[in-house]
Amino acid sequence: ATHKLSLMAGDGIGPEVIAEVTKLVRWIEARGLASFAIEEDLVGGAAYDDHGEAISDAAMERALASDAVMFGSVGGPKWDAVPYSKRPEAGLLRLRKDLGLFANLRPAICYPALADASSLKRELVDGLDLLIVRELTGGVYFGEPKEVVTLENGDKRAVDTQLYTTPEIDRIARVAFELAKLRGKKVASAEKRNVMKTGVLWHEVVSRIQKESYPDIQLEHVLADNCAMQLVRRPKQYDVIVTDNLFGDILSDVAAMLTGSLGMLPSASLGAEDPATGKRKAMYEPVHGSAPDIAGRGVANPIATIASFGMALKYSLGLSDLADSLDGAIADVLASGLRTADVATRGQNAVGTSEMGDAVIAA
Ligand code: NAI
Ligand code: MG
Repeated sequence: ATHKLSLMAGDGIGPEVIAEVTKLVRWIEARGLASFAIEEDLVGGAAYDDHGEAISDAAMERALASDAVMFGSVGGPKWDAVPYSKRPEAGLLRLRKDLGLFANLRPAICYPALADASSLKRELVDGLDLLIVRELTGGVYFGEPKEVVTLENGDKRAVDTQLYTTPEIDRIARVAFELAKLRGKKVASAEKRNVMKTGVLWHEVVSRIQKESYPDIQLEHVLADNCAMQLVRRPKQYDVIVTDNLFGDILSDVAAMLTGSLGMLPSASLGAEDPATGKRKAMYEPVHGSAPDIAGRGVANPIATIASFGMALKYSLGLSDLADSLDGAIADVLASGLRTADVATRGQNAVGTSEMGDAVIAA
């Protein structure tokens, strides 16, 4: 099968890091390991400069028709004065909305060679490989009412509403269990059912889905505050953690700091399954932004983006073996001592974006 890949490099270091994915795709094709049909589109400030919108309808159509979107990064000081609806971020927001990306996947992988860069002791994180599955389109960030009201006595009252429905919990739970099948066969579900009704419902629905559809996946329920504590106490106990929008925001940032630099962190967002094909809409992107401070110099770390492509291979394209060899190659390159400037320690000679990409391919 030919895999339809939509490349949206964006602004700043986006094109520099996406170029390394293009190289990797060409290498995979040259080896006859898989074949790709690639569409390249502008997004963000680059698209605005070209045609006045952060993403065109045609680019959006191509993203919708793809098996996976590889996104670089958008934004930068050049577009600070652009009207809100046309700002670079609007391109990213439209992609998320139109692709219906309700599941955000943030892995925390600790490459042994970088274990000393972690906020934790080496032995706690060496070999860590966990995945946080965060619900992205519901919960307290979107629930209504959401307002600040001035009371008669002049005091103010602010309200946010944490709200989840059974279908919303059902679909995110299924994503987590499906991913666990491709990984360590266990899921931890984090909520606060001790004080929140949404937590009670979350617990009930996740338990039911596991019993009905995923009896072979081990399920553990953990209170979200305890989960935060466990992440810094003994993170390797987890494989997949599924949680809501707010707890996921916090827990994924905690997990990120277990593994070091922004330049190393990949992510994915998944949408609904197409009933006809069984495929999910999906977008893969580094966690970092467009890094205007280093853009154009060829020094950005491409590993976050290359590892995001690895997630695409595994979770969207059915190429798990290739994904595993890619992960192995990244670990080997780091073990050999090669570093980009962001992760190099004092006295180490740093390599550039392209050399790092080449080294991963060679490995
Ligand atoms: P940033 O992630 O772009 O940069 C933060 C710091 O990390 C900078 O010092 C940068 O040089 C460094 N850094 C980031 N990625 C790196 C890499 N791959 N290799 C080496 N160093 C790296 O975040 P910042 O500075 O807050 O935002 C810059 C621009 O990016 C803004 O316009 C912001 O809106 C946008 N942004 C876009 C995102 C996206 O497209 N998803 C996400 C976050 C920010
Ligand atoms: Mg956050």
